[in-house]
Amino acid sequence: MAILRALYERAYRGGAPGWDTGVSPPELVALIEGPDALEPGRALDLGCGTGTNALYLAQHGWFATGVDFSSLAISSARRKSDFTSGVTFVEGDVTRLAELGVDGPFDLLLDIGCFHSVAPNRRDDYVRGAARVAKPGATFLLFAFGPWLRWPGSRRTREPETIPDIWLAFAPVKRTQTDWLVEKATELGAARLIPVITQRTNTERVKLERLEAIAIEAAEQCGRTMLPEIAEPLPLKHFLDQRDPKRVLYFADEGGGEHTSDAFRSGPAVILVGPEGGFTDEERAIVRSAPDAVPISLGPRILRAETAALAALAAWMSAVGDWG
Ligand SMILES: C[S@@+](CC[C@H](N)C(=O)[O-])C[C@H]1O[C@@H](n2cnc3c(N)ncnc32)[C@H](O)[C@@H]1O
Repeated sequence: MAILRALYERAYRGGAPGWDTGVSPPELVALIEGPDALEPGRALDLGCGTGTNALYLAQHGWFATGVDFSSLAISSARRKSDFTSGVTFVEGDVTRLAELGVDGPFDLLLDIGCFHSVAPNRRDDYVRGAARVAKPGATFLLFAFGPWLRWPGSRRTREPETIPDIWLAFAPVKRTQTDWLVEKATELGAARLIPVITQRTNTERVKLERLEAIAIEAAEQCGRTMLPEIAEPLPLKHFLDQRDPKRVLYFADEGGGEHTSDAFRSGPAVILVGPEGGFTDEERAIVRSAPDAVPISLGPRILRAETAALAALAAWMSAVGDWG
């Protein structure tokens, strides 16, 4: 939670993050202004950010409360609300509504991009808190990642995006570079990220929770509606043993390989990039002998491990991914 909160603060500190468009989504507008518009009442915006939607509701006759744990977002929401009546902003954690003094009953609950970042062990509290303040029969509009977040009895208003079936297997580097790699690979559209431990891997400790939080923030920034899956770290040998041979293995080999534009073919693929210092000779021989392993070259310059991973992913996206 602390990591995620810090990431959100960082995003707001850097100016308007990708999701902060200042425009309410059409699903909300339809609910408030459409032919079957709800009667104005009380609304709760969970993870309200800089207040766009709570303010929109107040401007349409609702009494709205926005809650967010980012103090920068809440300060900005309060500044924007100026003298708008009918809107209140509360700084705090949406899984602790009772402690924050947020009381219902609310006719409408909104969550535009917050629930999916609530840690799994806090989700029951989120649900209990929301249920406690919701009026019986209240409407709950939830925008969250992934097909698995379908609540029983709910109606889906947007289908999740289809993303190319490309996985990136990388040897974790130092923390900041690994964070950067995960952020950028998410933006580029990787479907799955697999940390692979090799003999020269610099770090053995990979904090999945941190990487997941980074992926969520990156996905929100670039408007992805599906998160990349982040796999448990695997030793190289297990990664190779568990590999489905139908998924072509493109292996960035400093020793030389095919030019990416000749090598890449459409279909499920995994790109494997080694650590700083490269694979050992023994590892290179094992990878090269794996069925359907295609060594690829990433040009004449020596790239850092994280640059190589992202360069290979970008080249794949451009050749056979969804850039065309
Ligand atoms: C993707 S942003 C969306 C913001 C806003 N709903 C919008 O549409 O502009 C998600 C927001 O949820 C907030 N958030 C995430 N987890 C939270 C938590 N546990 N408690 C309170 N706010 C949270 C973040 O600070 C961030 O402002």
